[in-house]
Amino acid sequence: MPRVSDLFFKTAVVWLILGIGAGLQMAISGDHGAFPAHAHINLLGWVTSAIFGGYYALNPAKAARKIAMIHYGLYTIGLVIMLPALYLMLHGGYTAIEPVVAAGSLIVAAAVLVFAFVVFSGASVRLASELSPATR
Ligand code: HEM
Repeated sequence: MPRVSDLFFKTAVVWLILGIGAGLQMAISGDHGAFPAHAHINLLGWVTSAIFGGYYALNPAKAARKIAMIHYGLYTIGLVIMLPALYLMLHGGYTAIEPVVAAGSLIVAAAVLVFAFVVFSGASVRLASELSPATR
């Protein structure tokens, strides 16, 4: 597995643990006020990071490009800024932290544009049907 895929999956699992922790906290306390933070930790943190890791595992040539690691770093920094701040804002009621959520969100959005560039640029991937049976 390419290094960037491994990093994305390891980071994704950390977000899954945190996301499930936030879900259990809501379920046990009966206070569901932080559910958007729980949903974003799971969907941006766990699901989307894992999809990025899977994409690079399927496209080793793109995983080897320097921009793949820039994508990983930018996306993960954005989430580390955005998600805890979102949780504190919703669960703790610290509304003053909203600009931090906004800053993190913009970094996450920028990282998604980097990923779009990775997907649309460079060599196209050969279809399985184009490969000879020996290489399938
Ligand atoms: C043990 C694991 C989990 C627990 C205990 C849990 C618990 C909860 C609870 C209590 C809510 C609030 C429901 C409400 O008030 O409407 C919620 C909402 C939500 N959860 Fe989880 N959750 C878990 C895992 C996950 C995972 C893995 C994902 C996504 C991959 C996820 C995605 C969502 C979403 C999108 C919502 C918002 C749903 C809505 O808008 O009504 N959850 N969860």
